[in-house]
Amino acid sequence: MSDLAPFEFRIHSRDGRARTARFATPHGTVQTPMFMPVGTQGSVKGISATELLEIKSQMILGNTYHLMLRPGAEMVAAHGGLPGFTAYPGPFLTDSGGFQVMSLGHMRKITEEGVIFKSHLDGSPIHLTPERSIEVQQLLGADVMMAFDECPPFPAEERYIKASLERTVRWLERCLTFKTRDDQALFAIVQGGIYPNLRQQSLDATLPFGTPGFAIGGLAVGESKEEMFPAVAFTAQRLPENKPRYLMGVGHPEDLVAGIALGVDMFDCVYPTRTGRFGYALTDDGRINMNSAAPRQQLIPIDADCDCYACTHHTRAYLAHLVKAEEMLAPRLLSLHNLRYLHRLVERARAAIEVGQFQAWATEWGERYFKRPS
Ligand code: GUN
Ligand code: ZN
Repeated sequence: MSDLAPFEFRIHSRDGRARTARFATPHGTVQTPMFMPVGTQGSVKGISATELLEIKSQMILGNTYHLMLRPGAEMVAAHGGLPGFTAYPGPFLTDSGGFQVMSLGHMRKITEEGVIFKSHLDGSPIHLTPERSIEVQQLLGADVMMAFDECPPFPAEERYIKASLERTVRWLERCLTFKTRDDQALFAIVQGGIYPNLRQQSLDATLPFGTPGFAIGGLAVGESKEEMFPAVAFTAQRLPENKPRYLMGVGHPEDLVAGIALGVDMFDCVYPTRTGRFGYALTDDGRINMNSAAPRQQLIPIDADCDCYACTHHTRAYLAHLVKAEEMLAPRLLSLHNLRYLHRLVERARAAIEVGQFQAWATEWGERYFKRPS
């Protein structure tokens, strides 16, 4: 039994702008800061539900866009929603589809009503509106639904971003009006690109809706880190203290550490699974290319401190052999390890925040992570 009300976010400790908290959902209470593995098609690529539990994943991200096209939201609903469909019993968050339409759809057209695009599967025309996105997300049954928004490309004209964020606010209002289930939270998304004035405008228009959480959207779309982090800092600082803050589509290990320092609570990214499929393993000493010569001779685990299945059972030499031989176990085990690495990274960040040592821990972690092998 949780002592928290549904969707309550209770801060446990603070260190600078970083904080640890618990966030209550119908499928369990999660600890933040947290990293969410991406399960676009109802599967975190190569990783079973049992393995997600073993590596202590807390919340899985699903996608409206992909699941509405295939197998259809109604088929997911026939399984009782994403937990029944995927056999992952914990909390889910679903993205609303707008972002994926822009990155994957063909011949998309944005109007006040919504987005019209051609399916990347069979070219058939699909309409996605705020109402349809919420209808689909209610059928998917995630604990957290995201508002239907537009994430403008980078770079985009300031006046385009302004018109877009204003439409995103009108779409947010339509999402909230259409939503019927109270066992699902809806998070609003703050847009505004890298421009402080537009971020402020989006904040001013979005915060009054008082949703149970807020996302920072429109970033990690091609801008530099020097452009992205000031926008994260500006936005995170102005979001409510007592609600979760979710930085969408981020990131790499160093981005999680930097985001946590700025008061971000939730992250998601395809990076750990994608880079694992390409043969890379994440460690405190940086990213190891398992296709390179060195690991083929190393009779040590990827990471001696890691408790994942790959690190507790296999040597780098064995895993590098699997990569070289193109065995399907290779991308699976590297994805598993990389996900566990990011989960352990945020676990260590939480522990450091709890004892007021976050900045020292982050500095030490960064010095080692970015140190070039001598
Ligand atoms: N994923 C990464 N960025 C975004 C964004 O701005 N909006 C949505 N809906 N999803 C995202
Ligand atoms: Zn490992």
